[in-house]
Amino acid sequence: MEKRKIYFDYNATTPVDPKVCRELAEVARDCFGNPSSSHDFGREAAAVMARSRSQVAGLLRAEADEIYFTAGGSESDNLALKGVLLPRLRQRKTPPHLVISAVEHPAVRETAAWLEKMGAVVTRLPVASDGTLRPETVAAAITGQTVLVSLMLANNETGVLFPLAEIAEITRKKNVLLHTDAVQALGKIEIDVRRLGVDMLSLSGHKVYAPKGVGALWIRRGLELDPLVHGGGQESGLRAGTENLPGIAALGRACEILSEEYGEEQKKIAGLRDALEQKLDQALERRLVFHGHRRLRVPNTISLSVPWVDSEALLSYLDLEGVAISAGSACASSTHSGSSVLEAMGVDPALVRGAVRISLGRWSTLEEVDLLVEKFSAVVRRLWSISPLYKPQSPE
Ligand SMILES: Cc1ncc(COP(=O)(O)O)c(C=O)c1O
Repeated sequence: MEKRKIYFDYNATTPVDPKVCRELAEVARDCFGNPSSSHDFGREAAAVMARSRSQVAGLLRAEADEIYFTAGGSESDNLALKGVLLPRLRQRKTPPHLVISAVEHPAVRETAAWLEKMGAVVTRLPVASDGTLRPETVAAAITGQTVLVSLMLANNETGVLFPLAEIAEITRKKNVLLHTDAVQALGKIEIDVRRLGVDMLSLSGHKVYAPKGVGALWIRRGLELDPLVHGGGQESGLRAGTENLPGIAALGRACEILSEEYGEEQKKIAGLRDALEQKLDQALERRLVFHGHRRLRVPNTISLSVPWVDSEALLSYLDLEGVAISAGSACASSTHSGSSVLEAMGVDPALVRGAVRISLGRWSTLEEVDLLVEKFSAVVRRLWSISPLYKPQSPE
């Protein structure tokens, strides 16, 4: 009999929605023109570009001409940070100052480290033990040299939300630009870029039921950035290269679906997440340690530690059972490194070793939640039974 596979790793990547798949295939098959060509085939492709731009803008309550398509979240983050900092670095005057948090995704963290090598000054803000960030911490870090603050909207490992709207009030008053990596927030919370008050926002297709290798950077109208990819002048000169039309059309359709289905879907997911947390906790003697602020978080993410267990062993056993979850982030899983996010939150290193992330999405069901609880608790009990550190609970 074929093994039943259950997927609880939506933060690593989402399955492509069948409706999005249809759009992707139709555009790839029927609309092969180059959007820059001046004949009918080109015009058709350009029309697809325009429609997709409006669909993405619609979800963000932005204007279509503020959307710049990229190859994903990492490129959008690189474009935002380098596009702002590199012109300042070229001026060779006072080194520009960049503020990020200690829990940013590597796409921001590593870009900041590279800019530091190029001469920028970087401040990494600490977070509280529940993963939150206080606006006052941001205010105190801003100096006369600060050019850009880049802070994620939702954390990929814990789901904790940063108060970007409050932070935007501070950066606006201090005349500093604000970028947010909203890759893990899009579709999970409502985003209105004007109400949020940021200047740039990154998003990625494969976290919102579109394919991998496509994303976008929203840039507030009037803000000028240096391009990263030079060439044919596509995307208003900001990102050269013939456009990934099927991917872009798919991202547009995925954003349109999110615009239509957002509220109900997130309510359902939050209900399943809460049920899953309760059931796991109960099944394992209330010995799990849950991370992150209980309320200020996206509805789909659970970050928890299993005491006396190594998450790599746990993940491998669960994988054999057909269950897909991850240790912290997918990036951390592939390098087998501990979670720097949990470390930054001051979580005990012994618990960081046993940390896992469970993330739900559009096709999660209560039946799958129950199956996960059954398999997860069976594997943990097996690992506890062979752990010399495990202490059975004394009878009450
Ligand atoms: C918060 C965050 N930012 C950026 C990225 C990178 O996006 P992409 O995989 O599209 O490059 C990810 C992906 O895991 C993410 O979670």
